[in-house]
Amino acid sequence: MISNVRRVKLKFTPDLEVEFTDRDRALKQVYELAEKGTASPVVVYGPEGCGKSAWLKQTAEVLREGGFDVIYADVAHRDYVAHTDVREVIERVSEVIADTTGYIPIKLADLVVLLANQLLKKWRKKKIALLVDEVFQAIGLDKAEIYTKMLLNIIEYPPESYENIVIIVATSEGLSRWRVGRHRWAWLMPMWNMSKEGFEELYEKIPNPKPPYEEIWRLTGGNPYVLRSLYINKWSTNILTNIIVEEKRLTPEFISKWRKWLELTVEDPDNLWSPEVPEELINELIARNLIVYFLRDRDPELWIDEPPPERDLEVGVGRYVAWQSSIHREAVKKALEKFKH
Ligand SMILES: Nc1ncnc2c1ncn2[C@@H]1O[C@H](COP(=O)(O)OP(=O)(O)O)[C@@H](O)[C@H]1O
Ligand SMILES: [Mg+2]
Repeated sequence: MISNVRRVKLKFTPDLEVEFTDRDRALKQVYELAEKGTASPVVVYGPEGCGKSAWLKQTAEVLREGGFDVIYADVAHRDYVAHTDVREVIERVSEVIADTTGYIPIKLADLVVLLANQLLKKWRKKKIALLVDEVFQAIGLDKAEIYTKMLLNIIEYPPESYENIVIIVATSEGLSRWRVGRHRWAWLMPMWNMSKEGFEELYEKIPNPKPPYEEIWRLTGGNPYVLRSLYINKWSTNILTNIIVEEKRLTPEFISKWRKWLELTVEDPDNLWSPEVPEELINELIARNLIVYFLRDRDPELWIDEPPPERDLEVGVGRYVAWQSSIHREAVKKALEKFKH
């Protein structure tokens, strides 16, 4: 079934379209969810650019083929896909996306919940799927929990009986995981960058000239967004690390405040896995999307798609703590050198 699913086309860069690649295990997991439904919203968290949105868009396609009415909304980036014969759903979502008054993310996040209830009640749909992308970042961390509860209510207290519901939320926002995890309102599932084999398939689709795969693997650790950034910047690591230093606000103050720990983390991210490390630093590194803290056991059942390696320092993965990708580590290394005095 995975071999014959239609793979969606994704804009890799404005001038390059790439078909959804690999992630076979993650697609198999979607078929399982489609069959059983989700007992609570599944909250998928993982490194920025690891491919969560791409996977959700492919998921929308799989579920459509499975007879679901699907709403995919990328709340932060005002993107959506609606697979339904209810025209009103498509119209309402596109209206809100096109709206330029007020704060759109909250309107859109609310609309998804409203439309889900109407799909069940007014339009009597029996199988619905809601795929909500980067909603916590957009509506604010403080609303992450209550929003998850609203989604859970659709599953638990639907206005009409249904055959099946699938609700998936994706987030890059590392701290939202702890917020949502405080309650039993969601099922938290991590997703990692692409596996070495799968990522090579994606690499093959990028036009030449390009550096050899081993080099790209070492720099990206399988993160497709980093691959995209390298490609756009003509494979210049220097440009990319400079951008990251700035984007992540790796200022001289930040670096000098935490120098000792950052040097240890560049060497081995598991050095953060110690009671001596100030929580403030850990939270800063999570909030800036530099690291993922507290990685689960690598039991495939506990992950969407393939789990990361047990420990592979070449790509910045420790047993308990990992850099979001190797290039994030390189950026911190660069800042440590640059602001040495
Ligand atoms: N499996 C995949 N096949 C093809 N392109 C992918 C795949 N995963 C991610 N991409 C591309 O890589 C980039 C980053 O992925 P994205 O899904 O936006 O990451 P995330 O949502 O986790 O931040 C996007 O341009 C996306 O289209
Ligand atoms: Mg995304």
